[in-house]
Amino acid sequence: MNWSSLNDRAYAPYSGKSKACVVESRSGKLFAGVRTENISYPITIPAVQAACAICLSEKEIPAKLYLEGDELDQLHFWKKEFQLEIIKTDSLPESPLEDPHKKWNADLDITARLKELLDQAVIPNSDFPVSALLFTSDGYLEGVNIEVSDWTKGLCAERVALSKAIAAGVREFTRLEIHTKKGEISSPCGACRQVITEFLPYNDIILHHADGTSSEHLTLDLLPFNFKSSSLKK
Ligand code: THU
Repeated sequence: MNWSSLNDRAYAPYSGKSKACVVESRSGKLFAGVRTENISYPITIPAVQAACAICLSEKEIPAKLYLEGDELDQLHFWKKEFQLEIIKTDSLPESPLEDPHKKWNADLDITARLKELLDQAVIPNSDFPVSALLFTSDGYLEGVNIEVSDWTKGLCAERVALSKAIAAGVREFTRLEIHTKKGEISSPCGACRQVITEFLPYNDIILHHADGTSSEHLTLDLLPFNFKSSSLKK
């Protein structure tokens, strides 16, 4: 893997400016993050936010950040938040990157896994864990919500799962399943609906509620009259 192929994974159809970085955790694991843009520009996920949130969602603490150029959106925030060592380099670290795309296996108990995953949420502010499983034709990606000192830089479970997929070069999805154990219903927030609509517009979203029931919805039913504009065409 080199910078050029990692950059190619970024989803930047609006700006054309692909960005990527790699976070090394304290225990030496390497997590890629790429820029994931949205037709609603302000909810774009910068590469550093993705890489740090992905690392944290695996119960690892970010320690070093590898980048190619000089600047990345949100770099200064994340550097300070985790006292990151910043390494500017023309070549990616030698060791392989973590592969978050788990292969489908018939033994997967979706409800049980969603419940287990809640323990990986990083929720110092809300104490409200959320888990997500984003399915592909042959596997799935796991997400939990991540909170940091600046509330605006945390990420919902759904967007962590999606960031993992995009950084792993996966763009095609079959469905999304989410769970929260607190609150009356499990339901994606408005910003997540906007992001989900960009990647899974005609797919099923399955909500596993706290009382053990579940409900199935089509993405566009969750976000009717969604924002789109031909002047922002990809
Ligand atoms: N949260 C999610 O993970 N997904 C949603 O769709 C709704 C909100 C998280 C974000 C934050 O960590 C906590 O729930 C409270 O907002």
